[in-house]
Amino acid sequence: MCGIVGYIGKKKAPRLLIEGLKRLEYRGYDSAGISVINKDKIETVKAVGKIHNLEKRLNSINTESSIGIAHTRWATHGEPNETNAHPHMDNDNLVAVAHNGIIENYHILQQELKKEGAEFKSATDSEVLAHLIASYIKKDFPLDEAVRRTMERIEGTYGMVVLCRKYPDKLVAARNGSPLIVGIGENEFIVASDASAIVEHTRQIIYLHDRELIMLNKDEYSIKTIQDIHVQTTIEDIDWDIEMIEKGGFDHFMLKEIFEQPEALHNAMRGRLDEKEMTTHLGGLSSVKDRLRQTKRIIITACGTSWHSALIAEYMFEELAQIPTEVEYASEFRYRNPIITEEDTVICISQSGETADTLAALREAKRKGALTLGICNTVGGTISRETDAGVYLHAGPEIGVASTKAFTCQLMVLSLIALKLARMRNMSHIQGDKIITALKKIPFQVKEIFESDKIIQELAQRFTYAQNFLYLGRGYNFPVALEGALKLKEISYIHAEGYPAAEMKHGPIALISENMPVVVIATKNSIYEKVVSNIEEVKARKGYVIAIATDGDKTIAKKADKVIYIPETLSFLVPILSVIPLQMLSYYIAVLKGRNVDQPRNLAKSVTVE
Ligand code: F6R
Repeated sequence: MCGIVGYIGKKKAPRLLIEGLKRLEYRGYDSAGISVINKDKIETVKAVGKIHNLEKRLNSINTESSIGIAHTRWATHGEPNETNAHPHMDNDNLVAVAHNGIIENYHILQQELKKEGAEFKSATDSEVLAHLIASYIKKDFPLDEAVRRTMERIEGTYGMVVLCRKYPDKLVAARNGSPLIVGIGENEFIVASDASAIVEHTRQIIYLHDRELIMLNKDEYSIKTIQDIHVQTTIEDIDWDIEMIEKGGFDHFMLKEIFEQPEALHNAMRGRLDEKEMTTHLGGLSSVKDRLRQTKRIIITACGTSWHSALIAEYMFEELAQIPTEVEYASEFRYRNPIITEEDTVICISQSGETADTLAALREAKRKGALTLGICNTVGGTISRETDAGVYLHAGPEIGVASTKAFTCQLMVLSLIALKLARMRNMSHIQGDKIITALKKIPFQVKEIFESDKIIQELAQRFTYAQNFLYLGRGYNFPVALEGALKLKEISYIHAEGYPAAEMKHGPIALISENMPVVVIATKNSIYEKVVSNIEEVKARKGYVIAIATDGDKTIAKKADKVIYIPETLSFLVPILSVIPLQMLSYYIAVLKGRNVDQPRNLAKSVTVE
């Protein structure tokens, strides 16, 4: 959600900042801007729309400058236009600020600053930061102190980078609740809201913590807290390389990420299967092994696609490990008064590790004494740092806004956890062996599903202009139906709903006609016959049925209009396979409709605001 880049060093900042913004464009993309220091002036250029619109205007600032800040925006306060785009300035162009997050008390601060003569131009909450920092600079506070005092006054979330023309060789960045990473190069620093803007320059990074600020000149840095206490920090290494964040010959990141799933799933499993004890090694959980063994209940909290993984995990944990499990939207969990005890384990699932609602739910669970675990993809994200323990997905960076490989890798990691918990409790060695054998086949089985590419593309052609889609599934496949519908609506903008198949007769059946494609996930399992009956109900009302079925199922071919086959596996692993054709179908429909697949309208990759 919004992207920030800042640079100080020897290179030409504007070009570097533009490249950084392009890497972050997936986070937010309705407008963008850059400010640089040129001698004793701040020069700014902004543009509505994509980064290339901004790039075309780059010559209107000093392209030789070696210090600057930049921002790509996803509007929260104020519509996307140039005035509302960042960086924001005070009235004397003394200070420029690029900000992610929400300043909750901006209205009060605005009133106060207006009395001192500040004139606000934009409809954003962020502009108040520039005026407030400038007001301290005018009172002769040095730049870092002006930012620190501003941090004391503001309520809300921020990741911000600040330039001041009075300090042309300094850059200050601060964070609270919105991620900021500082890349350390040779006589240069790059500040960014995520590592993808940094990896091509350096692998050495510092994660800034909440309520900390960093002061940079090209040769050194110092970090302090909002309480003005100096902080010693550790420098860490990012283990990605640049190819991992490029399209590698695919038309879109989403397609690349769909096709990367066999490898990503392999990586999620790598080194984690214990084929002697028929359990899993999850190093990230070893410090909490005893508490996990004693846990009486699991609560999983997440948003969006990650919430769908949580629903599948609920079934897995109860079936395999026999631990009562509940799932709750993080946005709901954080505002009720959930009953949580020290015997509970709260699992937060988040690809980005930064989702504001999931983070707030985590903090609520910690406050109440639960053991907290994080299942995250982005290494070093806030959720993984604040949980007691956790397991990374190792899916590699997911750039397409619609989550694909993170979802299947979440399911893989959750299966590994379920196996571990089950083997700690009631599951036999023989059953563990069966599961490990099935797990090892999964990456190859995903590859087999790609062979249905042609059938899926034909279906996409047939239904490019459908107005509605219905997705049905039962048991482990019910959350897959939800995920299929979410994928389709977010990238094609076609209305779609997911339902437990048996619920159809309680309402949605009224929608079925010859114009309604119904995707039914009807793999072979204990409730297969019942799902077949649901297909009959749809056919009786002339709906067009696309079935996702188990290889070799001849019955379904007679009932459905089109069948996409997936290989056979254990019931709890089926979702990793059954979601693949649904991801592909959504992708191809969205492409045929000419949608911007990687950056669908109104969405952002990492939702760091409420
Ligand atoms: C859908 C999608 C979103 C995210 C949700 C949570 O394709 O990507 O629904 O799943 O915003 O994000 P994370 O997993 O980063 O917490």
